Amino acid sequence: MKLAIFNGSPRGNNSNTKILLSHFQKGLERAGGSVTSIDYLIQEKHLEEQVKHFKEAETIFLAFPLYVDSMPGMVKQFIETIGNFDGSGKKILFLVQSGFPEAVHSMEVKNYLLLLSKRWKMECLCVIVKPGVEGIKIMPEMMTRKLFKKMEFMGNEFGMKRKLDEKDLAKLSGPYKFSKFRLGVFGLMQKTGISNFYWDKNLKKNNAFEKRFDAPYAN
Ligand SMILES: Cc1cc2nc3c(=O)[nH]c(=O)nc-3n(C[C@H](O)[C@H](O)[C@H](O)COP(=O)(O)O)c2cc1C
Repeated sequence: MKLAIFNGSPRGNNSNTKILLSHFQKGLERAGGSVTSIDYLIQEKHLEEQVKHFKEAETIFLAFPLYVDSMPGMVKQFIETIGNFDGSGKKILFLVQSGFPEAVHSMEVKNYLLLLSKRWKMECLCVIVKPGVEGIKIMPEMMTRKLFKKMEFMGNEFGMKRKLDEKDLAKLSGPYKFSKFRLGVFGLMQKTGISNFYWDKNLKKNNAFEKRFDAPYAN
């Protein structure tokens, strides 16, 4: 199993996408698979080389974060540069990871990717959806251990079976939507301000905390 990886995060080398992919790769290599190339789509000056890697690859892994309920612009640009490609005989898998904790936000993109694989005449092996990923860089190890192990497991499974089990995918992509109980807990967290901790920290870091309720176009 030879895999060409494309990372579609605007954060490139510093991205959550990269962290998740590295665990997947670890599992894949343990199963005897290998990665032929890792391209960061943010490096637009390498677009020609990236397209070449894509067109020559036997199996492609396109991974990106959800930005504004869709894919980052550079991912769309890359897809459009590939254009009307006949990828008959090739296989593709995707990872869509997002900040919001419910998978429902990624479903439109997932449907688009399934359609795109058909247009490219490629066999879509799976679309991995993982919500709730923002913050993994600052979380203590005990909070990310399970997720990283799951990504490694996925890579290993994929290396051995060349596909991923729907049950395993479902475990990773939950919850689709919050249950009433979790919504209640979340409501309480909002009241205490805990749910805003991460965002407030970033607002303060960027001297924007005092401006968080600004509405310059309100009138
Ligand atoms: C500009 C921007 C827009 C975002 N839009 C969404 C969104 O619509 N839905 C969501 O669930 N997460 C959204 N996020 C959160 C990212 O998907 C999440 O933080 C992801 O893990 C970032 O991955 P990366 O580090 O690989 O870029 C957004 C983040 C940024 C910076």
